[in-house]
Order: sequence, then C-alpha cells, then structure tokens
Amino acid sequence: MKILFLTTAFNGMAQRLWLELDRLNHLVAVQTDESVEEMERAVEDFQPDLIVAPYLKSKIPKSIWKKHLCLIVHPGIVGDRGASSLEWAILRGEEEWGVTILQAVEKMDAGPVWACRTFPLRAVSKAEIYRCEVTQAATAALLDALQKLESGTFRPLSANEFPAARKGKWNPKIRQKDLAFSWEDRTEDIYTKIRAADSAPGVLVQLNDKSYLAYGAQKEHSLKGKPGEILAQKDLAICVATADAAIWIRQLKSTEEQAIKLPAMLVLKELRERIPGVEEVSYREIDCRIEGEIAYLSFDFYNGAMSTGQCERLRHAFTQAKQNEKVKIIVLTGGRDFWSNGIHLNCIEAAENPADESWANIQAMDDLILEIIQSTDHYIISALRGNAGAGGVALALAADKVLARKGIVINPHTKNMGLYGSEYWTYLLPKRIGKEKALQFTEECLPWGTEIAKEIGLIDDCYGQTPEEFLTFVKQEAQKIAGLSWFDKLIKAKKFQRLRDERYKPLAKYREEELREMHRNFYENNRGYHEKRRAFVHKTAQIHLPENLYSKRRSIYRKRKWESVQYEEQSPCPDCSARPEHKTSKHL
Ligand code: COA
Repeated sequence: MKILFLTTAFNGMAQRLWLELDRLNHLVAVQTDESVEEMERAVEDFQPDLIVAPYLKSKIPKSIWKKHLCLIVHPGIVGDRGASSLEWAILRGEEEWGVTILQAVEKMDAGPVWACRTFPLRAVSKAEIYRCEVTQAATAALLDALQKLESGTFRPLSANEFPAARKGKWNPKIRQKDLAFSWEDRTEDIYTKIRAADSAPGVLVQLNDKSYLAYGAQKEHSLKGKPGEILAQKDLAICVATADAAIWIRQLKSTEEQAIKLPAMLVLKELRERIPGVEEVSYREIDCRIEGEIAYLSFDFYNGAMSTGQCERLRHAFTQAKQNEKVKIIVLTGGRDFWSNGIHLNCIEAAENPADESWANIQAMDDLILEIIQSTDHYIISALRGNAGAGGVALALAADKVLARKGIVINPHTKNMGLYGSEYWTYLLPKRIGKEKALQFTEECLPWGTEIAKEIGLIDDCYGQTPEEFLTFVKQEAQKIAGLSWFDKLIKAKKFQRLRDERYKPLAKYREEELREMHRNFYENNRGYHEKRRAFVHKTAQIHLPENLYSKRRSIYRKRKWESVQYEEQSPCPDCSARPEHKTSKHL
C-alpha cells in the first residue's frame, strides 16, 4: 500500500510506525504540516492509498480527508477527544488508558473508530508513557486497522456505537491553572501534576520568589522542611519540601524568553553554596544493584542526555562495580525512558563557551566508552529499555551483548547535528555491521527498529513489550551467561579479541581520528554544529527528514544477509578455534 504520513514532527512515534509499516513492505512517505498547501501538494504528488497522522497537532484539511481515507492516532481511549488526553488521564488518576485509531472527519477526534488498544497507566511522566505504552499500543492498533482495511469488509463504528465498557469524553486543552499547586499540598498531588506536564509544557512553580517551569519529579520521603524550602541538592537536582515530605525536581526552565530546560542547579546557580548536598536519599540518577555475580547499573539521565559530569559519575560507578570481587557480569540498563542520546546539548548550549564544553563532554563520553571496551575481565551487557540516539548508540555497542526492548527506536547518527561523531563509533559500528552499512547509517540518518537491527547484527536480541517484561528477560540472559560452564573461556576469548583488534588498530588511533574531526566541528563549525544545536535546543529547527526514506533503507536491508564482519588479520581464537570474524557474543 502507498501510505502518506501527515505529521507535525518525525518524532519517536512517527518513526516507530514508519518502521513497522516499512517492514511490512508498505511504501511510506512522510509530510510535515507546515502549511495546508504543502500537505495538499504531497497528497497530489504521492497519490496515497491511505493517509495516517501519527502525531499531528493541526487539523487535516477538509480538501484531503473528503477525498482520502485518513486515520488519526489519538492517545486516548474510545470517545476521548481533545489535545490534552494524556495530561487529563494522569491528572484524573486513570488506572487504564489507551490509543484509538480514528477516521478524520469535520469534528476533531470525533470520527469512526477503526481500532483501539488499552494499557495500564503507570505513575510516570507523560512523555515516558507516550514513548513506551502509547507507542506500543498505537503500533498494534494501526496494524489492526490496516488489516481491517485490507479485508475490504470492515465498517468502522462511531464512538457512540462502540461496545467499550468505559468511554472517554471531550477535554479542553490543558492550561497552567489546571496544573497549579502549592508547596503546602501533599507530595503525591504535586508529583501527579508535574508528571502530567512533563516533558511539556512543565508546571509553573515558585522557588525563592521566582517563577520557573519544573520537570522530572521524584518523591522523597526521608527529608522534611518548611513547604517550598529547597532542602537539598544532589547531582544538580533540587529537593523541595512539601506538606508531608519532599519532592525532587530534576530540571527547571526559567520563564525568561529564550530560556531552555536545564538541570535545576544550573538554573539556580546563585544558590549553589547555600543548598546542602546530600547522598543518602532515595533519589539516584545512577544506581548499581548487585545480585549474586551480576551488577545491574542503571543511569536514568533526563531525556537520555549525558553531560560531562554525568559521564564521569557513570564511569566512576562502572569502575566501582568492576572492583567488586563477586561481580562477573555488568548489565548496563540505561534509563527507563531513554537508554542514552549522547552528549548533553542543553548543558552545552548554556555553557559560557559551548565549543569548550562540547569538547569536555565528548572526552568524558569517550573515557566512559573506553572504560567499557577495555573491561576484559568482565562480560558486559547493554540492556536498552528505551530509545537510543547518536553517541548513545555507540555507548550500547561498547558491550559484549546488546539487548533491546522490542519496539524501541535506534538512531545511530550525528550528521543531522553537524557532527562527525566520536564515542569510538568508527571501531564499534563496523565491527557489528560492516564498514559499508556503518557508513550508510551515519550518512543517511535513518531510524532503525529492533527487528531489523537484530537481523543486520546491530543488536543481538530484542524482547518484551514492556520495560518489566524486558528486564525479566535480561536477568534470565545474564544469569544464563554467568552460569555457563565455559564462562572463563568466554572471557579469555574476549581478551584475545580485544588484543587482536588493538594490534590491528589501537583504540587511541580511532579516538584521535574521530576527535580530529570533532575538533573541527566544535572549533571551526565546519558542519554548522553550533547553529544546528541551537535550533534543536530552542526547538526552532525545521525537522530534517532524509529524502526518500523508503528507497534508502531498502538499499541497506536488501543486502543484509548476514554479511560477516571484515577483519584484515586472520588468526583463530585460542579457545574455540573460531575464525576471527566471530564476535564474542556470538559464542553463546
Ligand atoms: N541533549 C539534550 N537534550 C536532548 C538530547 C541531547 N543529546 N537528545 C534528545 N534531547 C531531548 C529533546 O530536546 C527533547 O526534549 P523535551 O521533550 O524535554 O523538550 C527530548 O530529549 C526528546 O527528544 P526528541 O527529539 O523529542 O525525541 P525523538 O524521539 O523525536 O528523537 C533523537 C530522538 C535522538 C533522534 C533526537 O532527540 C536527537 O537527534 N537528539 C540529539 C542527538 C545528538 O545529536 N546528540 C549529540 C551527539 S552525541
């Protein structure tokens, strides 16, 4: 089928649906909603069999929906209408929520229902629900709608005729007054309001008699104080007293024009000396749990962005896990929402000298990845619970085994940001998928789904629809590896492989070559990095869509047939006599 996406942005949701339809051999083109004329022209040029709106903030023009079947992905249960579905569902404390695939008609979100799915509503931020449950449910529902369409006999029902036990209703667009709270309120109520508006628009709060937008709330029960008082700071987050306990705020945005979202203590710089630092509290950005011989190291960085300090702290936590004598395997579980999106572009933007901060950040990221690659006494697993982008993908590939939750989206490129990229990608990416594909990946800036990523060898396996199902699988895998009678041989083979790779080309050389390019990107701005970063951070960028997504991707995975990794030196592994093209993870 020829399917046209009309979307406000080619965001994670649009990318995921595009990947799923592309995998089913549909020909999918993408058009953004900058103007009615452009949308009409795209429809005229492409002549689609179906139009899908995965994430559309504007209305589909009547001239289009009158002539073509248009299906809208609505993040709400059947009958729910309006632009703030998830926000209201969180504020009302719904236990179950859903996604409905509606046909576009004159009245917003009031068209016939083609398919729907429901899911339990977790107590996490709106953005996390959107990127996980809503995206999973939208995928299932859209594929269901497509099957019904292909059957040729399906007649969609209006929401009123729909036999759902519970139905939603029209809700107005959320305003700050719907989200407003006082620090005298209970922690639970404040927590609900902040997460309902996270990642946008944020909730207006008063701190030290000034207004800010707050994001990234976490409850704290061990600290108490006068409501509204900033009690403590940790890892640049602040803890504010409430009526019955306290709450951590990870990110703030000043209300001044041009302000950007930043770690809270960077916004409240002038209070740095006055707010006490704490360690023994429930809030942890980085957390290491040791279960027998396995260390599970999570790093829940807001938006998956990793600043210089966060990279350094994570490297420290990683080396500490290695020093534990019992630990044989380290599982890197990233964040719940994102695995990692590479260096922290907002912190860089806010720095006095963005070029210097970019340089410091990439060095810290490289140091972290080097530490992982050189961990030849341990077996390392990357477990991607959420989407991964840019240098965050290289971070995952530094491990011996890469596992991902089914359905996450992987964007292994930095060209869009005006960067050549470092993070040892010139070593790690070709090692997994071959030089040719690695180059194509980085040049063509395409998103990848987990099924295809597995087929082409970018990741080793994917499992589970929910983060919980995925972590259960990861634990089983880690335990299986720890229990292998030949675990010691596996480690020996890993050491051998690393030595051989080092002899072929030292890691220092890869780093030097990559950083030479990055130095030019940062200090000569030869690819427009500073303008691109500014536009990304301030959200003024016109989204960049790779031209002809479909044919470019086809050309990669038409050739995917398990091409072996090309090594120039050919010597067998001492333990298993495998040829050098094996990867240690493939021993399993
Ligand atoms: N630094 C700071 N913030 C980042 C970030 C980064 N590296 N990557 C993503 N974010 C933020 C976005 O600004 C957005 O913030 P908000 O929702 O709080 O306003 C949030 O994370 C989600 O990102 P978004 O772009 O909306 O998600 P997506 O699913 O549409 O796209 C990416 C995902 C990874 C393709 C896209 O975010 C991206 O290109 N990020 C930059 C990656 C990069 O170039 N890193 C530097 C080189 S290593």
